[in-house]
Amino acid sequence: MTVDMSGSPIALTIAIDGPAGSGKSTAARLIAERLDYVYLNSGSMYRAITLLSVQSGVEPSNQIALIELAQNCQIEFVDNGQITLLDGIDVSTQIRTPVIDSQVAAVAKVPGVRKEMVRQQRRIASSGGVVAEGRDTTTVVLPNADLKFYITASVNVRANRRFNELQGKGINCSISQIVQEITDRDLADKSRLNSPLKIDQEAIVIDTSDLTIGEVVSTVLKKTDHFSTN
Ligand code: DC
Repeated sequence: MTVDMSGSPIALTIAIDGPAGSGKSTAARLIAERLDYVYLNSGSMYRAITLLSVQSGVEPSNQIALIELAQNCQIEFVDNGQITLLDGIDVSTQIRTPVIDSQVAAVAKVPGVRKEMVRQQRRIASSGGVVAEGRDTTTVVLPNADLKFYITASVNVRANRRFNELQGKGINCSISQIVQEITDRDLADKSRLNSPLKIDQEAIVIDTSDLTIGEVVSTVLKKTDHFSTN
């Protein structure tokens, strides 16, 4: 827990953005755990809306229906962000299937869906004591965050991490295929018109290519110390 000079807890708002596979989700979750903060995984929210659209047979091209789904649901995180609740139901496993993987980008680029998700993200972060991560948390969702980070890693390192993860799950794939997928996804995230992934001018950039997850976490935690001693 970060404390001020009198020993009272400080509820900081920490925003972290970065590309897929950079290690930002694992780092954000561990940082939230260490600080006893709420962990807000904004990608899980876009995944939850995608799940709703699949369940209700709404095509990603049907923007009006998607926006309606987004406006009429409530997404919450419990258990230090490990569990995503969609209208009170645990959907943590269902939002990480290949079907959702393949459709989430189309849902996440709908402006009205983003508007509603940003509203819900700000509500969750409103009392501070939060580590929020995604693609636009430093730039759009929480532009006044106390601390901003951009966590990245080289394409090859990210591809190797993903390869090992898939091998661990018994899924066969080739490194070159993963490199291509990551390159395509980076391009889509950075070039979309609405809230593209970019480095905020106040963000501290951490390249995790040669760092362990423990080193990433301690780099971020060191920056929070600044708020305890000033
Ligand atoms: O981080 P992830 O793979 O769970 O993200 C899922 C999708 O949501 C991905 O296509 C990027 C998108 N996303 C976004 O557009 N804005 C965010 N703040 C977080 C994720």
